[in-house]
Amino acid sequence: MKKAVALILAATMLGVMATGCGNDSSSSGSGSGGGAKGANTTVGVCIYKFDDTFMTGVRNNMTSQAKEKNVTLNIVDSQNKQPTQNEQVDTFITKGVNALAVNPVDRTAAESILKKAKEKSLPIVFLNREPEANVMKEYDKTWYVGAKAEQSGTLQGEVIADYFKKNKGADKNGDGKIQYVMLQGEPGHQDATLRTKYSIDAIQKAGLQVDKLGADTAYWDKAKATDLMNNFITSKGIDKIEAVLANNDDMALGAIEALKAHGYNKGDKSKYIPVVGVDATAAGLQAMKEGSMLGTVLNDAANQGKAAVNIAAAAAQGKKIDKDTIGYPITDDKYVWIDYVKVTQDNYQKYMK
Ligand code: GAL
Ligand code: CA
Repeated sequence: MKKAVALILAATMLGVMATGCGNDSSSSGSGSGGGAKGANTTVGVCIYKFDDTFMTGVRNNMTSQAKEKNVTLNIVDSQNKQPTQNEQVDTFITKGVNALAVNPVDRTAAESILKKAKEKSLPIVFLNREPEANVMKEYDKTWYVGAKAEQSGTLQGEVIADYFKKNKGADKNGDGKIQYVMLQGEPGHQDATLRTKYSIDAIQKAGLQVDKLGADTAYWDKAKATDLMNNFITSKGIDKIEAVLANNDDMALGAIEALKAHGYNKGDKSKYIPVVGVDATAAGLQAMKEGSMLGTVLNDAANQGKAAVNIAAAAAQGKKIDKDTIGYPITDDKYVWIDYVKVTQDNYQKYMK
């Protein structure tokens, strides 16, 4: 046993020498066992599906942060299938990763994943899809990195409210109410539920009245959103719709495609319906530049990705998780909340890469 430990230590030191000095990420550890070090830290990462615009941003930022921290990420695509993800977690555990970072397919599956990690005393960071609070309490080595869904809804609603206050003609039928349609994300996702609710609450808090013409899910997906918007246009009449709220940019862009096909949002001011999204993706910002999308809300993929890697790496290395070790304030010892930012014509350029 002692021999094995000595061998591992020697190998670790060799690894450190091989990667050169001046890298402080390997100099942790209390010496009391537990905790991989520096270049030998491997984090198993499951992303719910690679083919998701926002999560691709998070994933790319995780990869670059891992390079920065000199830790190895093993990232897999859960292909939107929870059973696949469960197997991937099992494989990571068998392979002996030092920490897990999981973006659940189904947030209600987080508990069984957490239990697997807990059995092995393996640190686990959840991201983007928030496990229930009681699940998070079951294990001391679990954390969540995300953003407050309510905040994104509120900011999005404020963009619509400002527009209607500044443009009296936007109330096309002059009934004092905003006739809107809502394109929702995946059912059960906290961001879908809370953005839907809080965006409307914000409009009402601003003193405006609303009239819901239709609301349905397009599963965060652009093509599905084009179909859904076409249904709304056919069943409600395009001249009756005064605003489009989408739970994310991909769906906002899908709705814009449908509007454009009907001659709307192409530059003619008399044929314009304000559309808002969330995420501030590259394509979303481009649509703001061309004037087809009114506004969005920055969902900060860079800081979410960075924070997730910092926590996983620090926890894997046996460090205490606090602001000093991860670079982000932590709430209730478990949560890192990254702020959303309202994106309008005044500031969108700042977020274009
Ligand atoms: C949301 C984001 C969506 C989608 C979803 C995936 O935060 O706004 O675009 O990526 O996460 O869980
Ligand atoms: Ca109206």
